[in-house]
Formats: sequence, structure tokens, C-alpha cells
Amino acid sequence: MKKNLGSMPALFPMPVVVVAAYDENGKPNAMTAAWAQITDMDKIALFVDPEHKTMKNILATKAFTVATADLAHMAEADFIGIASGNQMEDKFAKSGLHETKSEFVNAPVIAEFPVSLDCELVDVIDTEHVYAMVGKIVNASVEERVIGDDGKVEPGKIQALIFDQFRNGYYVVGEKVGQGWNAGKELVKKAKGK
Ligand SMILES: Cc1cc2nc3c(=O)[nH]c(=O)nc-3n(C[C@H](O)[C@H](O)[C@H](O)COP(=O)(O)O)c2cc1C
Repeated sequence: MKKNLGSMPALFPMPVVVVAAYDENGKPNAMTAAWAQITDMDKIALFVDPEHKTMKNILATKAFTVATADLAHMAEADFIGIASGNQMEDKFAKSGLHETKSEFVNAPVIAEFPVSLDCELVDVIDTEHVYAMVGKIVNASVEERVIGDDGKVEPGKIQALIFDQFRNGYYVVGEKVGQGWNAGKELVKKAKGK
């Protein structure tokens, strides 16, 4: 029996990412986002309040990075999501995180997070309360410690955080339980009468 809970953002899990950008003078700022989604092989969409300092920076520089927040830096990622660069001078420095300029775009790559996407801003759509902003992913920079012997990222090594908007909880991605385009193979065979 299902219960109707009304209009609510009832999607679980959501990623926890840290979006970083420079202002016009090259000063870094960052914010946390859960409303983020890959939308093509080389595109990412984020849904951001136009008033956030990070959004203003991105509109000014047309570039940003998106890092997967990990368990080891949960406090820093949460801090970045509470404090605003609009009110707090040197918010990024105060987070204790470190950055270097991306080799590919005019945006800061945060040293502490193991997987980071360098993005160019390609589109901004004004929705009712937030901007849907689309970035073209021009590079993924990945710490070697999360890359397996086969050269591919091993997701289990990232200890990526995920977000629950029912109770504002952080979780860590759990164990691998199956393979995509494979777990349903038997059902496909059955449906095709094979
Ligand atoms: C877990 C978490 C997820 C968040 N997700 C989003 C989001 O998807 N979009 C958004 O606009 N703000 C989101 N926020 C809020 C911003 O991170 C927050 O308002 C931040 O202070 C903005 O910083 P800035 O003004 O320095 O850019 C989130 C905060 C937290 C803690």
C-alpha cells in the first residue's frame, strides 16, 4: 500500500558534489550541490540558486569544476554548503581545502577530492527558482589512488558521499551488487521468447 506524501524532492540517492569557480579577480569560491546530473557523455547539469556566490562567479568566468565529495572530507563539503561567499570573506580558504588552477579551464581544481570534472559553461536556463546550468566536461582529473590496475576508476575506492533529502542525511556509496546492461539479460531473453 503506497502513501501519498505530496510534492517533495523524493529522489534518493542524489550525489554530493562540490562546485568551484573563480571570481573576476581569480579568487576561488565553492558550494555544495546535490541537484546535479550527467546529461550526455560530455555534459553535466547543475541546478543552482542564482544568488549563490558560486553561480555569480560561474556567470563571470564561464567555467567551473565539479568534484565528488568523499567521506574523508564530509565536514569540509558540509561547511562549503552552509557558509556563503556572499557573506563570508575568504570562505574557500577558511574551509581548509586547497586548490590549483585547472590546466583546461579557468576554474579551481580542489586538491582533496579524488575525482573532479573541468567544465566550460555552455547553457543557463532560468527555471522557477534555480538556474539549470549545463557544463561541457573537457577533462576529468582523477587521483591515481582510485584508479584500478585496468586503468579505470574503481568507484569503491572513492568513498563517495550521497545525499538524502528526506532527512538531510549523508551516506557512503555501498558495495557493488551487479553489472549494468547485464543484470536484466535473462528477463530480456524471456521477453523475446528465447
Ligand atoms: C548537502 C547540500 C546540498 C546542496 N545542494 C544545493 C544545490 O543542488 N543547489 C543549490 O543552489 N544549493 C545547494 N546547496 C546550498 C549551497 O551549497 C549553499 O547555499 C552555499 O552556502 C552557497 O555558497 P556560495 O554562496 O558561496 O556559492 C546545498 C547545500 C548542502 C549542504
